[in-house]
Amino acid sequence: MILTESKSKLKIKSLKLKNFRNYDLLNLNFDEEANIFYGDNAQGKTNILEAAYFSGTTKSHRGAKDKELIRFGNDESHIETVVEKKGISYQIDLHIKKNAPKGIAINKLPIRKASELFGIINFVFFSPEDLNIIKNGPAERRRFIDLELSQLDKIYLSNLTNYNRIVNQRNHLLKDINTENKKIITDTLEIWEMQLVQYGDKLIDRRKKFVEDMNRIISSVHKKLTGNKEEIQIIYEPSNGNFTLDQAIKKNRERDLRIKSTSVGPHRDDICIMSGDLDIRKFGSQGQQRTAALSLKLAEIELVKRTIHDTPILLLDDVLSELDKHRQNYLLDSINDIQTLITCTGVEDFVNHRFSINKVFHVQNGQVAKEN
Ligand SMILES: Nc1ncnc2c1ncn2[C@@H]1O[C@H](COP(=O)(O)OP(=O)(O)O)[C@@H](O)[C@H]1O
Ligand SMILES: [Mg+2]
Repeated sequence: MILTESKSKLKIKSLKLKNFRNYDLLNLNFDEEANIFYGDNAQGKTNILEAAYFSGTTKSHRGAKDKELIRFGNDESHIETVVEKKGISYQIDLHIKKNAPKGIAINKLPIRKASELFGIINFVFFSPEDLNIIKNGPAERRRFIDLELSQLDKIYLSNLTNYNRIVNQRNHLLKDINTENKKIITDTLEIWEMQLVQYGDKLIDRRKKFVEDMNRIISSVHKKLTGNKEEIQIIYEPSNGNFTLDQAIKKNRERDLRIKSTSVGPHRDDICIMSGDLDIRKFGSQGQQRTAALSLKLAEIELVKRTIHDTPILLLDDVLSELDKHRQNYLLDSINDIQTLITCTGVEDFVNHRFSINKVFHVQNGQVAKEN
């Protein structure tokens, strides 16, 4: 592993919000290690992490629409962050508008495509929902891979955007077909299918490589978490099974015409999490599923480190209270070289831990007060 000097590691230095969620105005400066935001429910803790994540990815981690981020009763919201990467500062400005596309600027120069932001910041978001990723359906597991690869690999992001567009087009055609236009629509379908396979194969290859890289990391993490008791392995499960994507698309066309939707392709794939011979998704205990989910998240952090040769910024949203002491300590130990923004309801969790809290903020009804 390549460790960068803490002086030059990736960090978010400040965050300014205007009319974002329940914040009228907010101006925060962060420590380069641990930053704790505590307060009661519904005060605005997650909103801070959401704003930070949005400034790096132009997406809400909870899948919210841009409009929903604008403070009720306003037409525009502004997020300004200053980040430092390899010793260089970047100011990122995002203007979210009610009735127009968002505006993005890097160092005050407007950029046209969100993907130009790519590669400046890497965030890993960890929320209590992530602890259910093994238990929940395949959509969440795909989202996990897609969100991470979209941050790590610009080509993946572009292939994914194209692929999703093509699946949508194909589904529209499947819905439009009737006896009169059948011939012409079937010909058009074929053209879309060629492209679907072209992009789909690329996504599958990249995801398989991601799974391979994760496997190289996750087993040692999982062994440590389970006191050497349990193994773990991730297996990519394509919806096309043993067929090539091309074969499977053709084979399923009649069925797709009937159900008016595309039934195979990366948008239907899954990952299987095995412990020895046990499929943890289906047969793991709740505890096993949550431990595996924690391993997955920790392996993700390590994979990002190895890929970007820097440390990502960790956004830890209310996760500590979900874990027992042993897992809490393990998590806190594993992230002590990373800049972290942590939310929690109280600071008691940290009292007995050698993890040093550098900055503590109290969040109350859209106001943030610094406590040390
Ligand atoms: N667009 C919005 N405008 C104003 N307030 C909002 C908006 N979206 C969410 N909120 C408010 O933000 C609060 C929830 O913030 P959140 O950060 O999720 O809380 P928590 O502190 O529990 O993490 C709620 O009070 C909610 O009403
Ligand atoms: Mg919250």
